[in-house]
Amino acid sequence: MTMSNTGPKLWKRAKKVIPGGAQLLSKRAERFLPDHWPSYYSKAQGAYIWDLDGTRYLDMSIMGVGACILGYADPDVNRAVIEAVNRGSMATLNAPEEVELAEVLCRLHPWAQMVRYARTGGEAMAIAARIARAHTGRDVIAFCGYHGWADWYLATNLQKKDALAEHLLKGLEPRGVPKGLRGTILPFRYNHIEELEAIVRKHPRLAAVIMEPVHGEEPKRGFLKSVQALARKSGAVFVFDEITMGFRLTLGGAHLLYGMQPDMAVFAKAMSNGYPMAAIIGRRDVMDAAQQTFISSTYWTDRIGPVATLATIAKMKRVKLHRHLARIGESVKKVWLDAGEKHGIEIHAHGVAPLLAFAFPGPEPQALKTLFVQEMLDRGILATDGFYASGAHTDAHVRTYGRALDQVFAVLREAIRTKTIRKRLKGPVAMQGFTRLN
Ligand SMILES: Cc1ncc(COP(=O)(O)O)c(C=O)c1O
Repeated sequence: MTMSNTGPKLWKRAKKVIPGGAQLLSKRAERFLPDHWPSYYSKAQGAYIWDLDGTRYLDMSIMGVGACILGYADPDVNRAVIEAVNRGSMATLNAPEEVELAEVLCRLHPWAQMVRYARTGGEAMAIAARIARAHTGRDVIAFCGYHGWADWYLATNLQKKDALAEHLLKGLEPRGVPKGLRGTILPFRYNHIEELEAIVRKHPRLAAVIMEPVHGEEPKRGFLKSVQALARKSGAVFVFDEITMGFRLTLGGAHLLYGMQPDMAVFAKAMSNGYPMAAIIGRRDVMDAAQQTFISSTYWTDRIGPVATLATIAKMKRVKLHRHLARIGESVKKVWLDAGEKHGIEIHAHGVAPLLAFAFPGPEPQALKTLFVQEMLDRGILATDGFYASGAHTDAHVRTYGRALDQVFAVLREAIRTKTIRKRLKGPVAMQGFTRLN
């Protein structure tokens, strides 16, 4: 396959007029295949993407960074959205679908009675943090994992340089975040209850404890319950961030599977199949605090978000999507592990079935990953070291992926044996941490 040309050229232009090139770190070409990643799409449908040169790729990578859970341009969701657009997606009055969706979300999560909306995950988490602080009248938040770009979160690195390396990535400077926020947000690692215990000992009156119920690893026995008990003991609002994991493991928040009842939960990209939408759901007494502070924005009232979400949830329920995601994810993991064994390449797979990742623990892991991306792209497949299963992925797609991966692992084995990994790359090695681009 010839390499995409128009996309990489446009990416170079983009970096001159858009700081960092794109609005999301995970959409930077440098994170996949510097100089050769197609970068832009002309069309996306099902599990396929067409680049600007009209080349079609099977997407076995991150499916719109997890936003397109049913697959690209899902016809059922699009039909509902197009109808809403034609009937007016913004008006002086409110969209009635907001109320219907709030009732659906509360039915799915019987511990919650009230819902607010936003349009992106990061802003929804900022709202959750604000409501928790307003409700408790306190400042200090304990958290684990990634929760967006906003000041309340990035302030973690004011306390200790690279404190977020364990939770997000290395190299994030908290420039522009008021220094007065130092000490208002403290991290603990997943499955390390002793770290949260130490925080609570030092700060017995927390505003919130915020975490994902599950992500890269399963919770140790009793871990989630212990976090909840510590949150309750310190009078903190206990918040689950379900932005990525929600609706992938069951119809609703992953916390339902663990029998957990938080005080608030936040959903975004996994519930509206690519249309901007986010929801903060919570207990009535906690959510009421939203009225004692100011949380308000024009585009949080648009109609497309709730319409797309209602259509996506209805379809996820109808097709029992989480079962499909689990099956596809398990087959992809098997493809990785079988190819690793067959070709003698060490590979570590982690994550839960609908959202998997792997690492090459051997020497030059990043160069090897870059060669993997390059060789898969050459075979018409967008692939990286992570995989989000979607409703559009079929067993036939996994077989196509498996055949290409088998060939590519043979190339990697040869590259490792002859110490020619870097020599085989048509461009630089992909970047890992946060780096300035232009
Ligand atoms: C757990 C979690 N929280 C927050 C966010 C931020 O969401 P957004 O990118 O929509 O701002 C993400 C995004 O990947 C996420 O995975």
